[in-house]
Amino acid sequence: MTARDPADAEKAATEIRQDSGNDAVEALTLDVANGASIVAAAEAFGERHDHLDVLVNNAGIFPEGETSILDVDSKALFLSLTTNTLGPLLVTRFFRPWLEKAPEGARIINLSSGLGQLYDMEDVAPTYSISKTALNAVTRQLSAALKGKNIAVNSVCPGWVRTDMGGENATRSVAEGADTVVWLASEAPQSLSGEFLRDRESIPW
Ligand SMILES: NC(=O)c1ccc[n+]([C@@H]2O[C@H](COP(=O)([O-])OP(=O)(O)OC[C@H]3O[C@@H](n4cnc5c(N)ncnc54)[C@H](OP(=O)(O)O)[C@@H]3O)[C@@H](O)[C@H]2O)c1
Repeated sequence: MTARDPADAEKAATEIRQDSGNDAVEALTLDVANGASIVAAAEAFGERHDHLDVLVNNAGIFPEGETSILDVDSKALFLSLTTNTLGPLLVTRFFRPWLEKAPEGARIINLSSGLGQLYDMEDVAPTYSISKTALNAVTRQLSAALKGKNIAVNSVCPGWVRTDMGGENATRSVAEGADTVVWLASEAPQSLSGEFLRDRESIPW
């Protein structure tokens, strides 16, 4: 597991080790908006492991003060695209050598959002929505590019989840929000790729 701040990463890894009883949980420092950090994280991973079965691109930001597309702040748009779209793409590219070595095929899961769905998109949260729509395009492109390598790539909308981003009024617990991600990481057919899912079912792009 990774975080931008090494102390945060180690704290979270310690908690997960204690809660799960799995001593194999390791902390890695990674800022997905920083190319040098992605390269360093991939190198550090490669020094300790010879393959990667599952990559979950979970890091994301929701810029404050999201109003109308007519007033969109170009810095917020740039930061959203850097973190929410380019981040997952570059992390995937730099971890690809180990994903390709996964003995039973690998799985990449991109945390997207219903706000990125084009089919009913309105003038809401423009920079976040645009970055998640673009992330869905990254999912489709990667799925097509990696199909011959036995690497499945999917986007997931977790629903409205009670996290720092979702807030305390959100309708889903973290466990409920993570359900489809855990399913895709473990039990879902390896052939399932290039889809956008919520509650283990495909949803419109
Ligand atoms: N919560 C919802 O209702 C909801 C709904 C739809 C989709 N999602 C998506 O689900 C994913 C997880 O969201 P969440 O609700 O857990 O959000 P969150 O509570 O805001 O947590 C986001 C996490 O991303 C990390 N992060 C942000 N920028 C980063 C960077 N440059 N490098 C590395 N880590 C970075 C943050 O780390 P720091 O602690 O260092 O800031 C934080 O741990 C996101 O992709 C989000 O867009 C969430």
